[in-house]
Amino acid sequence: MGKAKLPAEFPQFHERGDGAEVWDVNGASYIDLMCSWGPIVLGHRDPRVESAVCRQLALGDTLNGPSPRIVELAEQLGGLTRHAWSMFMKNGTDATTVAVTVARAASGRDRVLVARGSYHGSAPWCTPNRTGVTAADREEVGYFEYNDIDSVRRAVADAPRGVAAIMVTPFKHDAGFDQAMPSSEFVHGLQDLCASAGIALILDEVRTGFRLARGGSWEAFGVVPDLSAWGKALGNGYPIAAVTGTDALRQAAESIFATGSYWYSAVPMAAAIATLDSLDELRAVERMTASGTRLRAGIANIARTHNLTISQTGPVQMPYLSFDGDDDGAIRERFSVAALRAGVFLHPRHNWFLSAAHTSEVIDRVLDRLDDAFATVARDVSRSLAESR
Ligand SMILES: Cc1ncc(COP(=O)(O)O)c(C=O)c1O
Repeated sequence: MGKAKLPAEFPQFHERGDGAEVWDVNGASYIDLMCSWGPIVLGHRDPRVESAVCRQLALGDTLNGPSPRIVELAEQLGGLTRHAWSMFMKNGTDATTVAVTVARAASGRDRVLVARGSYHGSAPWCTPNRTGVTAADREEVGYFEYNDIDSVRRAVADAPRGVAAIMVTPFKHDAGFDQAMPSSEFVHGLQDLCASAGIALILDEVRTGFRLARGGSWEAFGVVPDLSAWGKALGNGYPIAAVTGTDALRQAAESIFATGSYWYSAVPMAAAIATLDSLDELRAVERMTASGTRLRAGIANIARTHNLTISQTGPVQMPYLSFDGDDDGAIRERFSVAALRAGVFLHPRHNWFLSAAHTSEVIDRVLDRLDDAFATVARDVSRSLAESR
């Protein structure tokens, strides 16, 4: 455990981060395309967030109850998500689990449907690793295929005692596979099905939140889900997650017992307020979209010059790269190691993340370094083609 399925060449321990750059304990520096697996949305040690953190630290962090920051943050989040209430916790898993609990409390039903292969966290009800998980933990979880509304309808029909919630990510971002945007038919089909059967539609925004849009990621479809789970980017690296929901689910949310010793800590809430303010001031989504577009076009160009056929999928702010014919992922691994050696930190089988600190100048440096990585891969590919002849 500990290296998130990264090749052995990757550093285990990390010393510091600044803007778009990170340093390992041996002093090597990298341009960071992982952003701590999503939380760093403004850049490492963003000065606006750090000064809000220092101000709150001087007042206190974990007190006998929440500080006024919780009200300020809930109001801000409500405005962005068009939701009526917020609850705060620490990790994305807390948020998805609380959202499911609220939906069950509201409907009195047990069953929850998720897309096969989607990651919603590490709790027994959703972890992809069944070790230590009982059959009972999973008894009330059903599955459908992402972007296949008929499979959702079948999963609902297969639930004789009804369905409490359907949880779905804003786009398909399963690790190890090309990403897929949701079809309009899927999004609106889910919305209609949930509305007609009294099922809570839960959007798991833990990975996507505040990168794709300032508010909900399905706002572009005109869809406000019944519940949303947030985490990662919300605090620019400080530990905070949230569930937001519609007024119809307020009572259910008030009725459940969900808490933790650190859930009301004020520092991460101050960090989240400063993060949301800065995202707005910097027009961060637009910035990340522009940088991501530059990165995608640059990578396409470089791959072409090295005669490599690649796919780049998903939103440009959350890039995913795969190589033609790389069924076992061996080329992606070689590429990630070559990129690391060239000074770019990226993952071979997980989507990457951009932040507002990835300016066009940073992207150009990334492209410069990735040219070496693509050259290494191209040499490997042509060597193995020659050997197979
Ligand atoms: C879509 C999604 N949901 C939930 C989680 C769980 O979040 P956490 O690791 O903060 O518990 C993740 C984490 O990667 C995620 O990507």
